[in-house]
Amino acid sequence: MVNALALRGVSKRFGGLSAVRDISLEIPHGQRRALIGPNGAGKTTLFNLIAGDLRATNGQIAVFGQDVTRIAAHRRVELGLRRTYQTSALFDRLTVIQNLYLGVLGPVGHWTHLDIVTIPERDTTHMERVMEIAEAVRMTHRLEITAGELGHGERRQLELGLAIAWKPRLIMLDEPAAGLSADERGVLMGLIRKLDRSVSVLLIEHDMEVALNVAEQVTVLHDGAVIANGTPTEISSNALVQQVYLGEGAYE
Ligand SMILES: Nc1ncnc2c1ncn2[C@@H]1O[C@H](COP(=O)(O)OP(=O)(O)OP(=O)(O)O)[C@@H](O)[C@H]1O
Ligand SMILES: [Mg+2]
Repeated sequence: MVNALALRGVSKRFGGLSAVRDISLEIPHGQRRALIGPNGAGKTTLFNLIAGDLRATNGQIAVFGQDVTRIAAHRRVELGLRRTYQTSALFDRLTVIQNLYLGVLGPVGHWTHLDIVTIPERDTTHMERVMEIAEAVRMTHRLEITAGELGHGERRQLELGLAIAWKPRLIMLDEPAAGLSADERGVLMGLIRKLDRSVSVLLIEHDMEVALNVAEQVTVLHDGAVIANGTPTEISSNALVQQVYLGEGAYE
């Protein structure tokens, strides 16, 4: 079976700092994988390399069997790759329905600096999809609210909606549950678990409990390198992983 993602020897240096060191990993299509690790482990940098927001210093990246190492971010989107950002990226002055409408029209990055959207009344094709997504992320009762007025948890739900708008085949979520209350986290995790099984998921999560709850396989990053790979059960009982997390606790 073709891998949704295959990394071979991927590294990224920022001047003298090796943020990502010689990472190789494969995500079979349809798998839900968590990427965990302490602050500064290199998780977001690895996402940036996979999405094409940064160029790798070394190594190869393949998405659904196609080498994307040297191709632009928007062409990776065309292959079915979608990501969210660690900091929220919504059009705050637009309503939920307008945000989703733009998401359905195209990758959100194409629409920066927009604050007026008129939805053509007869655009039933796109509106059907909008309503389907609103349903999937449980936002149908909030359609006319501006994104700026949404609570933190609802913002994350809407971002997930935007990420699935273009029917991705591989979706990468950067700490979707960060800053959410336990209840909000529960809702979001439920939504992620309910995503279509044909969508591969790579999820960065700082909170081990959340990661272990959603993922079938977990990859642990520390200091730019992979230190463990395994099932949630294996990872939660891995001594090296525990040591890394305890060590982090010591200086937080
Ligand atoms: N554009 C950049 N220029 C220079 N250094 C960077 C850049 N981006 C990240 N770094 C450094 O690379 C290392 C890895 O950062 P990264 O943001 O990937 O970590 P992370 O695992 O996502 O951490 P967090 O859990 O805090 O989000 C850090 O030391 C960070 O300071
Ligand atoms: Mg990060």
